[in-house]
Amino acid sequence: MTEKITISVIKADVGSYPGHVRVHPELLSKAEGKLKKAKKDGLLLDSFVTHCGDDLELIMTHRRGVDAPEIHELAWKTFEDCTAIARKMKLYGAGQDILSEAFSGNVKGLGPGVAEIEFMERASDPIVIFMADKTEPGAWNPPLYKIFADPYNTAGLIIDPGLHDGFIFEVHDVIQERKIEFNTPEDIYDLLAYIGQPGRYVIKSIRRKDGLIAAVASTQRLSLIAGKYVGKDDPICIIRAQHGLPAVGEVLEPFASPHIVAGWMRGSHHGPLMPVSMKQAHPTRFDGPPRVIALGFQIAGGKLIGPVDLFDDPAFELARKKALEIADIMRAQGPFEPHRLSAEEMEYTTLPKVEEKLEKRWKKGI
Ligand code: F6R
Ligand code: MG
Ligand code: MG
Repeated sequence: MTEKITISVIKADVGSYPGHVRVHPELLSKAEGKLKKAKKDGLLLDSFVTHCGDDLELIMTHRRGVDAPEIHELAWKTFEDCTAIARKMKLYGAGQDILSEAFSGNVKGLGPGVAEIEFMERASDPIVIFMADKTEPGAWNPPLYKIFADPYNTAGLIIDPGLHDGFIFEVHDVIQERKIEFNTPEDIYDLLAYIGQPGRYVIKSIRRKDGLIAAVASTQRLSLIAGKYVGKDDPICIIRAQHGLPAVGEVLEPFASPHIVAGWMRGSHHGPLMPVSMKQAHPTRFDGPPRVIALGFQIAGGKLIGPVDLFDDPAFELARKKALEIADIMRAQGPFEPHRLSAEEMEYTTLPKVEEKLEKRWKKGI
């Protein structure tokens, strides 16, 4: 036990309807009940259950720290119980992200996505939790770079002495399973050399140079865990804001000009990441376009004060319109790159199976 507060956001796709569109309300209320009981039992301080598309998202606060087995077990059991309901209702992809029968203390590597952040609560601690569907963890690379390293986005990098010294980015290479740190602003060219390839290099966390943790993202890649295509690893990101950190408005600003991410239909296409409200968080057209929601909370003694549905605002209307225009342009490319992902990325989809069948028809020499 510690004085520090931990926010754990653990998510899984354990079945949706119709197809991969959205989580059923019965699963949401089952999960809410499980987490409320855990609060009563003293394990959690607070919780909030939501969904982004077909992903069931458990937001939990507690004092057990990052990677606490009892918190991971609670999430795992919640996903198991929800899977049972999903199976009964014959929801689509029931139990999809529960890749193992055996839980052994931590959900990492077993299918669910995880982002956890532990810190001493400040006098007032605003946080924003981003949750996306039909894309992958590297989708956070461009907005995280803008928020914490780009003065065109974050005025505070210039104006506020608390931000002026810059930040430390921890980047994971999810293919070779190694990590590296970059200091900004000094290393921005080196940082961009890697994070410009978001399918492989993923920003895991960002600290202020005095050590204060500012942001944490999920980095699991399901395809790499399972060794076969099992859907995209729809990601989560937790960002602390204000008072020597980027303001809430600076945290949201990158989403005003939608960027193009990998995912969408069959996890095999590039498309715009569209910022939407909770009530619009169910991908439809071509199983998309990929969506992101942003929930804002204040943390008070571990209590989650909120959420505010931050993209439920006319200020993001134009971004949604732009995203739809980009969606039209990308869709017009049909089965061709760059709408379809690069050959390297397609290795993690079901395409190699098709190519295997055709292998014998190829003749040597041209
Ligand atoms: C994308 C996604 C969907 C499915 C697609 C095909 O992450 O989950 O686009 O890939 O609907 O699904 P299956 O193969 O289950 O019919
Ligand atoms: Mg699904
Ligand atoms: Mg999903």
